[in-house]
Amino acid sequence: MSDNKPIFQPNREFAKEARVKNMCEYHALQNEAMEDYEGFWSRYAKEKLDWIEPFTTTLDESNAPFYRWFDGGKLNVSVQCIDRHLSSRKNKAAIIFEGDRGDKQIITYLELYYQVNKFANLLKENFGVQKGDRVVIYMPMIPEAAYAMLACARIGAIHSIVFGGFSAEALKDRIEDAKAKVVITADGAYRKAKPYMLKDVVDKALESGSTVVEKVLIVERNNEEIAWVAGRDYSYNELIKDKSPICQPEPMDSEDPLFLLYTSGSTGKPKGVQHNSAGYILWAQMTMEWVFDVKENDTYWCTADIGWITGHTYIVYGPLAMGATTIMFEGVITFPDAGRPWKMVEEYKINQFYTAPTAIRVLHKTGENEPKKYDISSLKVLGTVGEPIDPPAWKWYYEEVGGSRCAIVDTYWQTETGGHVVSPLPGATPIKPACATMPLPGIIAEILDENGQKVPAGEKGLMCITRPWPSMIRGVWGDDERFKKSYFGDVKKEGQAVYFTGDGAIYDEDGYITITGRTDDVINVSGHRMGTAEVEAAIKKHTKVAEVAVVGKPHEIKGEGIFAYIVMKGEDSFAQEVELIKEINNIIKDEIGNIALCDDIVFVPGLPKTRSGKIMRRILRAIAKNEPITQDTSTLEDPSVVEKIESIVKSCMI
Ligand code: PRX
Repeated sequence: MSDNKPIFQPNREFAKEARVKNMCEYHALQNEAMEDYEGFWSRYAKEKLDWIEPFTTTLDESNAPFYRWFDGGKLNVSVQCIDRHLSSRKNKAAIIFEGDRGDKQIITYLELYYQVNKFANLLKENFGVQKGDRVVIYMPMIPEAAYAMLACARIGAIHSIVFGGFSAEALKDRIEDAKAKVVITADGAYRKAKPYMLKDVVDKALESGSTVVEKVLIVERNNEEIAWVAGRDYSYNELIKDKSPICQPEPMDSEDPLFLLYTSGSTGKPKGVQHNSAGYILWAQMTMEWVFDVKENDTYWCTADIGWITGHTYIVYGPLAMGATTIMFEGVITFPDAGRPWKMVEEYKINQFYTAPTAIRVLHKTGENEPKKYDISSLKVLGTVGEPIDPPAWKWYYEEVGGSRCAIVDTYWQTETGGHVVSPLPGATPIKPACATMPLPGIIAEILDENGQKVPAGEKGLMCITRPWPSMIRGVWGDDERFKKSYFGDVKKEGQAVYFTGDGAIYDEDGYITITGRTDDVINVSGHRMGTAEVEAAIKKHTKVAEVAVVGKPHEIKGEGIFAYIVMKGEDSFAQEVELIKEINNIIKDEIGNIALCDDIVFVPGLPKTRSGKIMRRILRAIAKNEPITQDTSTLEDPSVVEKIESIVKSCMI
């Protein structure tokens, strides 16, 4: 192999039993897709999904980029995830729940069927929820969150989950944009053995009366006292009691929406990424099978939160579609200590473990020797997702957690891709540390330049997917133009607009792809996508702020931290006032949530702008990283501002 990164071969014993056993099999699948793209997808859609009515067209490209998959077909995603397993897996654990305080619950497929049907009946009968209605889910990591998702799928309602760490303002924006009429929440939950509240946040989000929310359903979790709004708020625990455990699934068209999930882009307003039914669930299942290679008696754990796409596809939809046992964990993986995940691996004999590099770095830093204290020999596949993993964290994960025998699948994908797009296959792909390796079969991923030409090996380019795939984003809710502009506006290949991920990437002479990070104004904090424009919009709400520019800065644990340059109105001292910093961070907390708090806030006399008023963020990024400035600054409106900013930043960093 020509690249100088070390290479690790798949474990032979594991490979013997794997679904894809070697690179010959991988290439055969890839070639099958290349030679007959529609035939490949049609074969899998027939093989993997249970259709109420068969589809008649595999792919319709006539209204690109609004691609349609499996038209003519009807199915129901909750049936894919539950009903079809009942004949063979009725008593198998579908979900194993472990609460923050160690409380446990096992939900079999039969129990899941009853719970989801009752929930679906509740939504229909008590709240009048119908096919196509939007339901916002603002929930902790408890089984009822999964029931809520699947209940929506069962009756054809479109769920939009908002991560429980988002503030009232962020929740309100998402509720408004989706025009949701129902919000499902909980009184709160537990974090590090202490109760925290969610219902209060919902109340605050709805208090202005600007939404069309009619009903709020509250699941009891921590039993803390909450306020009730008569006629709007209802107790799940009360209403669910008399519901029938049978609810006929709504037959859904392949292209009927399944869910919306808001994610950050390069403007201040998050985008409602829309995923539809058949294509999404097909790829969720196929990637579960290929990438994690979960076997019938395996137990699989993904540590994500259902508020993010990873939680959607790889805690709920993917594992359940394939009939697996998925762990749902409410807690914090370093609580009560950094041995918590390994204790759980030992206890549940977990076979596949999937987490983010930030979590791996924290576990490595705070509990380097913890894995040794437990029997974690059940592990077979280790996954990472959400951000580039650095080689030291990778090495520890591979050697100390995986005992040098487990494959590490560095899965590259996005909210918009619905499921993995570039990833090793654990029984087939020789892996290189911190490298997502190769596109999955059926995904035509190419690294192109701005003119749509393939870049040579070793040169950085734009990570594109040049053919539509079944689980791709179907639209930005309510904004077709933004959808086209955001994803199909930058790169054309042979005259045809292709999907651009927003990421840079590089491939080596073995064809191995390494993701180099975002090329737009999106930063990646602890594996969570954050639009700099969103943080800037929040900071601008402070009455004394005149201008602001936010950039990412490397962070030892979080991958990237948030660095804000702020120009205050009528200010000429640039004292780095602690009170002001606190006020600004409080606004961010209120507008977005704790996840967007700035690591650095620096008050500066001006921002480096071109004569046309564009902020030269590259200069600000270089200063934040303490790197030399390589850009030509002579074209700036006021070149002297760069030196002033540099000296202020240096003095703050001492
Ligand atoms: O920049 C890439 C990074 O995470 C972004 C997608 O974020 P989000 O939509 O929130 O979904 C996260 C979970 C899929 C991508 O544009 N990213 C994701 N996976 C990797 C990654 N960067 C490097 N390596 C990865 N494996």
